[in-house]
Amino acid sequence: MIHSWRELSQQVEAEIAAFDFSGKPNELYDPIGYTMTLGGKRIRPTLCLLAAQLFGGDLKKAMNLAMAVEVFHNFTLVHDDIMDEAPIRRGKPSVHAKWNRDVAILSGDVMFVQAYQLLAKGNSEKLSQILSVFNQTAIEVCEGQQFDMNFETRNAVTATDYIEMIRLKTAVLLACSLQLGAFESGASDRKANLIYEFGEKIGIAFQIQDDFLDCYANPEEFGKRVGGDIISNKKTFLMLTAVEKADKDQLIRLEGLMSQKISDDDKVAGVLGIYNELDIPNLTRAAMQTYFEQGMHAITQIEADEELKKPLISLAEQLMNRKH
Ligand code: IPE
Ligand code: IPE
Ligand code: MG
Ligand code: MG
Ligand code: MG
Repeated sequence: MIHSWRELSQQVEAEIAAFDFSGKPNELYDPIGYTMTLGGKRIRPTLCLLAAQLFGGDLKKAMNLAMAVEVFHNFTLVHDDIMDEAPIRRGKPSVHAKWNRDVAILSGDVMFVQAYQLLAKGNSEKLSQILSVFNQTAIEVCEGQQFDMNFETRNAVTATDYIEMIRLKTAVLLACSLQLGAFESGASDRKANLIYEFGEKIGIAFQIQDDFLDCYANPEEFGKRVGGDIISNKKTFLMLTAVEKADKDQLIRLEGLMSQKISDDDKVAGVLGIYNELDIPNLTRAAMQTYFEQGMHAITQIEADEELKKPLISLAEQLMNRKH
């Protein structure tokens, strides 16, 4: 029987619901259970299980790796919200806002180690491959996060710099999640590399969509503060494209909005006004589509049962049309 991505994401949700995140002291463990059970799309663990299914692996065994990537992802969110000074995550106060920054740092540290505890339950014959891609990914996510922060105060950021930054901070973890499912299932290097490439391209499209939603999502559905990227001067795809397309007058207005002391609401409204004048939403969708198609090209090249690819393709399509 072929499982749909929805079925597999429900299995992940059930696994998380049954997992005991509690411990003492409460200040250390409560934020972990809070974060893990707040909801979230569970994309990375679902990708891991879908890759395991594609390559004929045992889904029960792959679940440990799936959990590992979700715990790691949630750790990065807890620390990301400190760095981005984000007050809301998944519609609830972020950990540093609900407790405090020190709690968010230390709970995040425990989650990072818990991810390794879960990874260690992976296929013992494949453990060196599993650890190697995970370690490389964890370092790259930190590199991407540092570039993301450096770019807040750097003016000369090119489209190439931006794509590399989001490849590191976001795309490699989606790619890694898929490759872990492939390794667990004993897929060939060629297949493991192609599924990684699929994840990397889809991941770049995914982060461009995340940038888009940060500006244009419905606040009721989004679960994060709309306009947060504009407020913190993030060099998103939208901002870089606007700077590139702006005429002299628009550029002066944009620079004024970025540097003047005005209210957050006025800044967001002003920048969105310029984005709309420049047709940035459509340009952003076009860029997403380009990377999405590159991902599709990679998955096409994998020699595997086409029926087993369908749930992966369907999840990738769903990600491009999400509201949060
Ligand atoms: C948010 O990831 C962080 C990014 C890499 C864009 P998700 O959009 O997957 O967040 P959740 O887990 O569904 O909340
Ligand atoms: C997040 O990028 C990347 C990581 C968490 C590693 P963002 O800062 O855009 O993610 P959100 O929008 O806060 O979820
Ligand atoms: Mg961030
Ligand atoms: Mg953030
Ligand atoms: Mg974002």
